[in-house]
Amino acid sequence: MNEQQRKEMSHIQTDQNNKPLHEKTSADFAKYFEATYEPPNINKARKRGRDEIEVHYDFEVPEDMRMIGKGKHFLIRTYGCQMNEHDTEVMAGILTEMGYTPTTNTEDAEIILLNTCAIRENAENKVFGEIGHLKPLKLENPDIIVGVCGCMSQQEGVVNRILQKHQHVDLIFGTHNIHRLPELIKEAMFSKENVVEVWSKEGDIIENLPKVRHGKIKAWVNIMYGCDKFCTYCIVPMTRGKERSRLPKDIIQEVRHLAAQGYKEVTLLGQNVNAYGKDFEDDSYRFGDLMNDLHKIDIPRVRFTTSHPRDFDDHLIEVLAQGGNLLDHIHLPVQSGNSHILRKMNRKYTRESYLELVDKIKQAIPNVTLTTDIIVGFPNETDEQFEETMTLMEEVGFESAYTFIYSPREGTPAAVQKDDISMEVKRERLQRLNALVNKQSAESMKAYKGEIVKVLVEGESKKDPDVLSGYTEKNKVVNFKGPHSIIGEIVDVKITETRTWSLNGEMVDQTVGVK
Ligand code: 5AD
Ligand code: SF4
Repeated sequence: MNEQQRKEMSHIQTDQNNKPLHEKTSADFAKYFEATYEPPNINKARKRGRDEIEVHYDFEVPEDMRMIGKGKHFLIRTYGCQMNEHDTEVMAGILTEMGYTPTTNTEDAEIILLNTCAIRENAENKVFGEIGHLKPLKLENPDIIVGVCGCMSQQEGVVNRILQKHQHVDLIFGTHNIHRLPELIKEAMFSKENVVEVWSKEGDIIENLPKVRHGKIKAWVNIMYGCDKFCTYCIVPMTRGKERSRLPKDIIQEVRHLAAQGYKEVTLLGQNVNAYGKDFEDDSYRFGDLMNDLHKIDIPRVRFTTSHPRDFDDHLIEVLAQGGNLLDHIHLPVQSGNSHILRKMNRKYTRESYLELVDKIKQAIPNVTLTTDIIVGFPNETDEQFEETMTLMEEVGFESAYTFIYSPREGTPAAVQKDDISMEVKRERLQRLNALVNKQSAESMKAYKGEIVKVLVEGESKKDPDVLSGYTEKNKVVNFKGPHSIIGEIVDVKITETRTWSLNGEMVDQTVGVK
């Protein structure tokens, strides 16, 4: 780095008093945070009130920021869940209104944002790796803005670590600050200091944020934000704030608009969609009512993720059983098959009550496909308790599962528990569980041989541009040959070959899409 660059870099290395950040003591940081930042606090989070939710419809990129990105590029790297993917679409929308255009090449970008995930330690490690990789780029070109946002930036420890060890990061903002992006970028451009804005305030819903959606076939639609379930292993209630539902009219309008634009599928998003509406003060409208209203909209497919078994009520099952555009695939995270572990996880259901719910769902929707999330190696999980997860997996007949080794998250109740189970044992359990998941997935696929399924064609398959790829109603990947003109359409495909995670087939009507 030459002297000029050092000088230019110096603005991100000092605080308001020109004191280099790496020389700051934790007392300095405490003072710094007093003004700008409130760390996640589970006790406080548990006491948060139900009032104060305000819906705003007045978002606008300020006049003086509308052309600031003209001729410049942005790149957003997204880690973690669909919620983050959708937040990225919103940030892309805001940056586009500021005149920026997207790029996939870091060297071409004037703004690089990392939209991060805090759910497990390995997700965080990946982000810290990427932050490190961006350092030479920033040193070469001090004018670029490197920003970190998403769930990791809601954690005090992470913000401290970035400020102390990764001084090439210009901007850190939280999950409740996305709508402030124009002001934050302006500050990062012109200020001589790192810009940190992480609100713990979590009462508001900003309705009219612009979005640049990924593709024109499937769309994500937020129906609620935050989570009040406080599972003892999970950081989300602290990074995403309290449960707050969007108003039905706003969701319905968004889905209608997407249908009118030609989208074929929407996935409703929430950390716990079944709790939709519970925060409405004097309204008994719930998730079942919302699904019932969306059932009437002329859009071929409506999915939702993710469900909590606790709030999965009879009315919702009744509504889903109507079928139509409400698809018969339900992702129902169970986490463990042992009631004692479930209690320690604060899941508020037992193995038996989960199985009862599954029975009820299967009776109402006989063809239903169930998938799940499972954590192995929760602190002190015994072999016998783990075996109950294995038997539950079989008993329910899950067709697929996301499986994870428990990862302690600072600030969560489970993280302070002493844990006698070694990582080796946890890895072995994960391997055994994954072998069972693969077996059940392969078996569920075999049943499709010779069947005709409806496939929403999404594009070329990743492996072969001559092959098209899409998803069935039950979310199974199907590869088959066909003309590119059917991308975005729903077509009938006859399954000729089955694999563990995908199906191969042939179009039933070979003339569809051929001119
Ligand atoms: N460790 C491992 N897995 C976790 N999940 C959430 N928190 C943790 C954690 N601390 C898993 C759960 C959840 C999914 C999104 O991530 O299975 O359903
Ligand atoms: Fe985390 Fe889901 Fe539990 Fe909420 S319901 S605390 S998001 S695992």
